Amino acid sequence: MGNQIKSVGIIGAGQMGGGIAHVCAMAGYDVHVYDISTDGLHEMLANISGNLARQVASGKTTDADRDAALARIRLASEIADLAPMDMVIEAATEDETVKRKIYQQLCPVLNPEAILATNTSSLSITRLASATDRPERFIGIHFMNPVPVMKLVELVRGIATEDQTFQAARVFIDSLDKTITVAEDFPAFIVNRILLPMINEAIYTLYEGVGSVEAIDTAMKLGANHPMGPLQLADFIGLDTCLSIMQVLHDGLSDSKYRPCPLLVKYVEAGWLGRKSGRGFYDYR
Ligand code: CAA
Repeated sequence: MGNQIKSVGIIGAGQMGGGIAHVCAMAGYDVHVYDISTDGLHEMLANISGNLARQVASGKTTDADRDAALARIRLASEIADLAPMDMVIEAATEDETVKRKIYQQLCPVLNPEAILATNTSSLSITRLASATDRPERFIGIHFMNPVPVMKLVELVRGIATEDQTFQAARVFIDSLDKTITVAEDFPAFIVNRILLPMINEAIYTLYEGVGSVEAIDTAMKLGANHPMGPLQLADFIGLDTCLSIMQVLHDGLSDSKYRPCPLLVKYVEAGWLGRKSGRGFYDYR
């Protein structure tokens, strides 16, 4: 099956939306990114430009390919600007109410043939699909952060997702030179089902005084060969995102082993969300 998708709309200009825009533009797609924050859109473009400059400097791409990719990215000030896209990937905040509201605004204007995908890292694809007008053309396409570097994409079908949608999504992800893992529609799928309890346990290890932030991260970097320590990784993912994934696991699987660590809850309540807010387990200010 050839690739029917030529244009990609992205909702959300955060680190995930920006990374997805980066790889789609590099793969030759016309990309329109919508976000409620115009400042957020401009910040995203500056980040993509900086990341592409690093890729040019390390010989991974050329000046000409970088310029062509940047020229393919358009900033959309209205959600309706995404109407003609062949596929829209929603990469908004990990909050079901927010996502549902976006689908309510998008679906009435979006090309009825378009595939609607969500980059959710934990929520039920079947339940999100039920908030759209096209459950058969709705699918979970879960990228990893940083998107331009990480090879994996989780592909998750909802109960109503048609085979044609699944195959089109497969061809699309292949075209981005990513490796697909198919996961069933259970809370947090595969990567976060395993990764987030490990991060939560690292936070318990800190909470119970077993080790300092540095000791825990060094232990896992040098003792388990992880590229980043679990607390550094939590800051990188965003502590609010980590908490919402733990809550989805706890609620969805009804098992106390997924109880979010009270220290994680406290940090999020304080607005210490990790790298993006300037403070988490580390200080970035
Ligand atoms: N865009 C483009 N390139 C980037 C980049 C970005 N955002 N971030 C890093 N890179 C590139 C760098 O340019 C560098 O390229 P070269 O080798 O060509 O120089 C390369 O990646 C390595 O980067 P650095 O030298 O800056 O730093 P590093 O070696 O410490 O690697 C890292 C950084 C790739 C982020 C590495 O620390 C890592 O793999 N960390 C773990 C990331 C991880 O686990 N991600 C999954 C999170 S879970 C998730 O995403 C699921 C979810 O839903 C929550």
